[in-house]
Amino acid sequence: MVLKVSRKNSRSVATIVNKIHPAFSTPIYKDRIQIDKNVLNPILSDIDFKRIDTKDRWHSSNYKILDNELAFLKDEVQSRIEDYAHNSLGMARRHKLKITDSWVMKHGRDDKSDMHWHPNSIISGVLYLQTYKDCGNICFFREKNLFSDILDFEFSHNDTNARIIEVEPIDGMVLLFPSKTLHGVNQSQTDVKRFCCAFNTWIEGELDPPFRAK
Ligand SMILES: [Fe+2]
Repeated sequence: MVLKVSRKNSRSVATIVNKIHPAFSTPIYKDRIQIDKNVLNPILSDIDFKRIDTKDRWHSSNYKILDNELAFLKDEVQSRIEDYAHNSLGMARRHKLKITDSWVMKHGRDDKSDMHWHPNSIISGVLYLQTYKDCGNICFFREKNLFSDILDFEFSHNDTNARIIEVEPIDGMVLLFPSKTLHGVNQSQTDVKRFCCAFNTWIEGELDPPFRAK
């Protein structure tokens, strides 16, 4: 596919080369952060966790953990948020995103996270601190099937009609996505604890009023 991008009205004129062009897909960002385990591991063992009401995972009591125990990782996370927002999504640099809340989740055997999204946030993400085989893939869900959920047909599965995209986490992997994106975590099938740091963002400063003359 070749795109000629016109900045006016955020329109892109696409010359479609392949038979199928995935218009308006969900942009999921992936990168990797080098984490010094000698620094991280003592911190992980000192974090205070609480079992949440659904009894399927542990959350840190601290919801500003990238400003406290994990402050040594905050700049790395912030740089990925800026790379995603400005370089990948093309959001103007004057729109500055700040991390509003951040917490660590711990999953033991059989723990999981049901499908959810992050309200009151613009971009959300997760940084994997400790992973292990079968510790629980993150799943991204399509909001509706291809022809909306009123109709249901049998499909042979392919990337175009997939309703769930799974990603196997590895240590240091950071994933970013629009906060409205439906996601969840598969049940852990290992006794090795899975730790990750999740975070939300909001815009700094004023939002533009609608219909502002340029
Ligand atoms: Fe989440």
